[in-house]
Amino acid sequence: MEAVAERVTPVNPVAPASSASTSRDRYAKVIEVSKRIRWEIERDVIRGRDFDFGKKFLPDGLSKVREVPFLTPAEGRFFSQIQGRTYANVFGLVERFIGAKVLEISREHWLGDQIALEALVRFTDEELKHQEMFRRLERMAAAGMPAGYDFKPQPNDVAGAVLSKSTWAVLALTLDIELFTQAHYRASIEPDGDLSPLWKDVFLFHWKEESQHAILDEIEFKREDARLTPEQRDQAVTDLIELVAAVDGILQVQASADAAYFLQQAGRSFSPEQQQAIHATLLGAYRWQYIFSGVQDPRFLEVLGSLITAEQAARIQSALASIEAPAADKGA
Ligand SMILES: [Fe+2]
Ligand SMILES: [Fe+2]
Repeated sequence: MEAVAERVTPVNPVAPASSASTSRDRYAKVIEVSKRIRWEIERDVIRGRDFDFGKKFLPDGLSKVREVPFLTPAEGRFFSQIQGRTYANVFGLVERFIGAKVLEISREHWLGDQIALEALVRFTDEELKHQEMFRRLERMAAAGMPAGYDFKPQPNDVAGAVLSKSTWAVLALTLDIELFTQAHYRASIEPDGDLSPLWKDVFLFHWKEESQHAILDEIEFKREDARLTPEQRDQAVTDLIELVAAVDGILQVQASADAAYFLQQAGRSFSPEQQQAIHATLLGAYRWQYIFSGVQDPRFLEVLGSLITAEQAARIQSALASIEAPAADKGA
């Protein structure tokens, strides 16, 4: 896998696209890698396996289970399995609007650069496949977990709301998502014999294709940026802040639902302080997984920072600061 990463790296998505040919080379390189690493859900990821409910689904670095040390090992596993199930559902949700947006921006290339068009068609096709994989994982999780789990947001409702915002803002949010998928893969490869091998493969295979998406998203984000007037960009920054707040709203609702499900199914009672810690840790874990592990990525900071003014950066920073990141996540 490292070999794939090394071959992807020379494309250097951070380098400015100094000419159309440079950009074409990058699209062509993405297609080449995308074809080489192409995987299938059943043949490569699932491979006839089922979930082992004696293992954790999410690594500790993502689930933040160590912040609730009063849980027994079995409770800690359940805590991570609930989050794994929510992980599958959240990705099924975000990939709905990402696929639609990429299909929409591919219009720019319909009668133009056919290499760019092919790269974006593959991107969309891969996100459709990922959605199917995450639906499959949700069904497998449901089959082995007690009744009562409820994923609250509706993918099409969320996609409709997201797609009503400016393309610049949606592409910025998408870059955050593509980059945090890579941070999640890195967390999943930490040595941990208690992590489900099937989930490890989910992180691995998803990361392989998301690496190309991050490159494409960045090219398209910069193309879109170059089209905007300063006033339009300023409105787009406002849109991005609203999108991140909307994501956080979803995370708050789901963290409450998942905490209630955990407490209902844990089979013992917890003190009010412990209940509060379980809820707060879930919310902190979701904020880390779906917001901060991407926006703290150096590439995200570099790309976004190159497109906005200091005043706009400060506006985004203060919006993020108002979404309280758990202290343990700071500087992680
Ligand atoms: Fe994906
Ligand atoms: Fe993606």
